[in-house]
Amino acid sequence: MIWESLDRQQPKPLVALILGVAAVLVFHLYRTYARLKHFPGPLAAKFTNFHRFRLARRGRLHLYQTRAHQQYGPAVRFGPNLYENVALTILMDVNMIVGLMQSNMYRAFRPWTTDGLLLSVFTAEDDATNREMKQHISVYYSLSYAVSSFEPRMDSASRMFFDELDRRFVPKGAQFDVTQWMKFLSYDTMGLMTFSRPYGYVQHGRDLHGIMDDVKRANLSIGPMTQIPWVDWLLHKNWGANLFKREAIAPLLDYVLARISERQEERRKNPKSPSNANIDGPIAEGDFLGYYLNAQERKDNVPLRFVSTWTFANILGGADSTASMLRSVVCFLVEHPDALETVRSELRDKQSTETGLTLPFPQWHELQNLPFLDACIKESLRLDSPFSMPLERVVPAEGTTICGQFYPGGTVVGMSPYITNRYKPTWGDDADEWRPRRWLEGEPSHIRKLEASLLSFGAGTRGCLGQHVALFEIKKFVTALFMNYDIDLVEPRAKSNPYFWVVYPERVRATVRKRELKQ
Ligand code: HEM
Repeated sequence: MIWESLDRQQPKPLVALILGVAAVLVFHLYRTYARLKHFPGPLAAKFTNFHRFRLARRGRLHLYQTRAHQQYGPAVRFGPNLYENVALTILMDVNMIVGLMQSNMYRAFRPWTTDGLLLSVFTAEDDATNREMKQHISVYYSLSYAVSSFEPRMDSASRMFFDELDRRFVPKGAQFDVTQWMKFLSYDTMGLMTFSRPYGYVQHGRDLHGIMDDVKRANLSIGPMTQIPWVDWLLHKNWGANLFKREAIAPLLDYVLARISERQEERRKNPKSPSNANIDGPIAEGDFLGYYLNAQERKDNVPLRFVSTWTFANILGGADSTASMLRSVVCFLVEHPDALETVRSELRDKQSTETGLTLPFPQWHELQNLPFLDACIKESLRLDSPFSMPLERVVPAEGTTICGQFYPGGTVVGMSPYITNRYKPTWGDDADEWRPRRWLEGEPSHIRKLEASLLSFGAGTRGCLGQHVALFEIKKFVTALFMNYDIDLVEPRAKSNPYFWVVYPERVRATVRKRELKQ
């Protein structure tokens, strides 16, 4: 009776619609689940991306994925959908991500503007667009440009840094936070390389303009959003959302655009200034922004918008990453006095050769053939890779076979530098240990294999464009620091750090003493 009356009250087409939508949804869920069901993984991951989003928000995704790989093996399913955000993380073969298109996780890095999302070298999904944007500027990231244009800037940043150590911390043995001060140094160096002026963080000992904070807020928001791009679109990447609250990344873009207009104005007023020189080769007065503007003006069909994206990518991608590597190399060496002594003895040997070693700031040409120092830097990069979320790529429509396993077209596969760099079959049972000698042992073919397996700078055509610049900066600063100072950690460094796309390491308190220089 009741059913009959209810039945009469229900509008039948609506019930049919609800049932139809539910059936399509269930079918879709089952189909996506079933197509990848042979890949093991945590149960929740087969149905939703939200758990990855939540973990990324807490900066703990890398730890969860490490545990999952320990439990399920090298290929683990971390998400439900094809075409969207499956993130099957696979270890073993770094080449698997070479040549595939970036997934839509990279959209989270494109700031929203009234003209649409600002695409960059880093966030271009396909190789053709990436090449189109990169071809005009790749040369500026070469080692020869870095040395010729940036060595004096690097030395001036180190000089400012040492002056502050001598003024603030050395005289009274006061403590300083290595994490914070490496950030000050890295940002000021990037400011000098990009805009020919430091932000002033080292001199003032604080985040003067709030840029560092803006970048951090941006990364804290972007990191989780990479795992669930449609939510990002809903909350941030549209006109309506930006009317009420601008994206965390917006002030950084404003800062970059302001520097570009200032430079254009300067170039109009003073066309003969060194930054206007229509140069083909690197010069000591050159900076990234000057090179970019020259590249844009010299060539037809290169929109001014490219200059903004090139500049923006440096500030967003190059400063925090290099800062965390500087911190990592410094801390690992201080924590391993034997290794530090070997580095110093390698440098002392250099001092006695014909090349010598300029003090207090060794020059790049003097820092060649220092195998143990190079090994210490690579080993630190391996264990403390600044980027630790899977670098995602999309399998092409025809599907592909990776390590003997077929992946259907549209599957998103990824590799996490944090996990790949600790994979025991590649690195050995002591993979979790900082042991620089692993880079010096065995046949040259074995060392080449290790080098090819290190994922900290990504891999292939989409690998880090700034890696020479970063390594140049790290090697120069670390040698200058340890030739001039002794550092003591006040307390042990935290064992694991939160990652929000890029690592935001915990503070490390230390004291510093000046060393007697022997020329
Ligand atoms: C130790 C410091 C650094 C690390 C560990 C690092 C790491 C990376 C990684 C892993 C990628 C590839 C991401 C992917 O495959 O999705 C990348 C791309 C990139 N990096 Fe770096 N980076 C560092 C410093 C820098 C610096 C200093 C600059 C600029 C001066 C820079 C500019 C770029 C650019 C432009 C790309 C995009 C390249 C492309 O897609 O073609 N990076 N970086």
